[in-house]
Amino acid sequence: MPRKLFVTTALPYANGAFHIGHIMEYIQADIWVRFQRLQGSDVIFVGADDAHGAPIMLAAEKAGKKPEDFVAEIERGRKPYLDGFQISHDNWHSTHSPENTERSQDIFRRLKKAGLIYTKPVEQFYDPVKGMYLADRYLKGECPNCGAKDQYGDACENCSTVYSATALKNPYSTLSGAKPELRTSEHYFFKLSDPGCVDFLREWLGTPGRLQPQVLNKALEWVDGEGDKALGDWDISRDAPYFGIRVPDIAEEKYLYVWLDAPIGYLASLQNHCAKKGLDWKQEIAEREQIHFIGKDITYFHTLFWPAMLKFAGAPYKEPDHVYAHGFIQVSGEKMSKSRGTGIDPLRYLELGMNPEWLRYYISAKLNANVEDIDFNPDDFVARVNSDLIGKYINIASRCAGFLSKKFSGKLVAVDPSNTLVRDMQLASTGIAEMFDSREFGKALRDVMSWADKANSFVDQVKPWDLAKKPGSESALQQACSDSIQIFRILTIFLKPVMPTLARQVEKFLNVPELKWADAKQLLPAGHAIGEYKHLMQRVEEKQLDALFDIQPAPETKKEAAVTDGTISIDDFNKLDLRVAKIVKAEHVEGADKLLKLTLDVGGTTRTVFAGIKSAYAPEKLEGQMAVVVANLAPRKMKFGVSEGMVLAASGESPGIFLISPGAGAEPGMRVK
Ligand code: MSP
Ligand code: ZN
Repeated sequence: MPRKLFVTTALPYANGAFHIGHIMEYIQADIWVRFQRLQGSDVIFVGADDAHGAPIMLAAEKAGKKPEDFVAEIERGRKPYLDGFQISHDNWHSTHSPENTERSQDIFRRLKKAGLIYTKPVEQFYDPVKGMYLADRYLKGECPNCGAKDQYGDACENCSTVYSATALKNPYSTLSGAKPELRTSEHYFFKLSDPGCVDFLREWLGTPGRLQPQVLNKALEWVDGEGDKALGDWDISRDAPYFGIRVPDIAEEKYLYVWLDAPIGYLASLQNHCAKKGLDWKQEIAEREQIHFIGKDITYFHTLFWPAMLKFAGAPYKEPDHVYAHGFIQVSGEKMSKSRGTGIDPLRYLELGMNPEWLRYYISAKLNANVEDIDFNPDDFVARVNSDLIGKYINIASRCAGFLSKKFSGKLVAVDPSNTLVRDMQLASTGIAEMFDSREFGKALRDVMSWADKANSFVDQVKPWDLAKKPGSESALQQACSDSIQIFRILTIFLKPVMPTLARQVEKFLNVPELKWADAKQLLPAGHAIGEYKHLMQRVEEKQLDALFDIQPAPETKKEAAVTDGTISIDDFNKLDLRVAKIVKAEHVEGADKLLKLTLDVGGTTRTVFAGIKSAYAPEKLEGQMAVVVANLAPRKMKFGVSEGMVLAASGESPGIFLISPGAGAEPGMRVK
């Protein structure tokens, strides 16, 4: 049965480029959406930037830009990624938009009218130099329990005690270094603890099939928490200065907390899309199942606040039907984080000319319906793509198509009635559809590849290349190749949600209109002529992965014959790629008495460098400092890991090592010349 769906992906913070984690989420949702569309369902699929909040305001300030310009620039950078990985959103919008202001203020007013919003004074640290209230992340001080210095405002990294920021001893603002003052201001709260609200949540959560079991259990834990774990009310306002949406109907300058307006951005994007298409967004909401794809880290917002907000705002708003959470992607077993930016740069992947469908296939082959993390492993990637896609799937067409075009002008004969493989595959399409529908992509693709294995065994058995040489075997050859092409066509339908471009090329080659899922049950008629086979997909080369991970080939040892007077030309100097780097992390290296492991932010990319500066610097003192790095030094494999560059430091006769750092204002990534 075709469905009417409204599907979203989580709204990425507009303070940085997409990383592979975002792309993974888009790929997951996109495959599901494409599958639904192939089934004849009507889907509106949207995304948007999450543009508001203090971190973005501060990032814009640091970049010397107005926040609206800053986020607009980020938003403009999204397209190459989304198009590049073939994400079929119908619309991309922003939470910093008229639609979102309208919807957010409307929802706020409705919740107020429903008696679910109240105010109370909140005591909070205020930075008198910066002139703003400080969220916990912008506060540091001494741990009230163990006295450790430079601890954040929520928990101690030394003794793991959790406390509130106001308990810190000798607190300071990480923004200005100033001593913060305790100040009080009125905040707006959403009454999540209201019995009506809690009852609603239990009922919403309890609807069978709405959420994955892991997500449901977590949400029920939150709803049923007692004592200090009890469901609290939600602080939904922030004082100026803040980049956000004004709390409506009051003179004072207060703003809605970013997590209130962020999910409303889903509706803003829908509304914006509907306006462009001449549709009534209210009617579209009413008619559609509402489904959110998100990562596991933001289920609290999507399974408690968000449904409650929508429910009590009332029609035309409507609670989500499903929230589907996924795990995180790691690269070679290493956790990825925004600040460190480890992992694969998705844009670099595209710029290197790597096929986006390889990644779509690889990621989906690892995905299931659970909230499990997945790992991107370069060797595994090469093996999977080459053996499954090229070795199994493409291989079928490449071994059979030529004979049909050369000897039979591309014409097919009817499928051999005794060929049970074709029929079995047609029957299997229902089961594979269920797997796609339930987001068991890995399972679906394993199934598809097992059919591809059988298809290859069939080709091996009928040996078209032998038949082609044997006089009098024309009809056997045409039969064998026709059947193989029919099988290839069905496999293409199964893979189409994952590899839409490849499928389009196959449609051209087969000379057929756009394939739908139901077409798997049909066959090409006798006499249908296929087009000429052109190679459909390249193999992945290992060196492409090396380039992706920036591993340069080992430099050849050059014997410089020229004896010079010691001077170098400007060209020699220009060979050095010196860059400003920020030390985001500095750690001791076990077993190394001279080295520190530094994680450097070189302007959006992150590098690990081992530096022999342990005698001179305590690692915690280095974090946040700027340095200069030789960025094009060939990576060197050391006992403790790969060092991807060198930081510059001065040293002389007298003891001491002195890190070179740029003057104030230099930004990570700037070229040093
Ligand atoms: N702005 C919020 C979401 C608001 S939704 C109304 C946010 N932004 S984010 O940029 O940090 O994350 C966007 C999405 O990417 C989230 O669903 C998040 O879980 C997902 N991922 C971030 N890192 C990820 C991985 N390493 N792997 C997979 N998904 C990850 O949260
Ligand atoms: Zn402590």
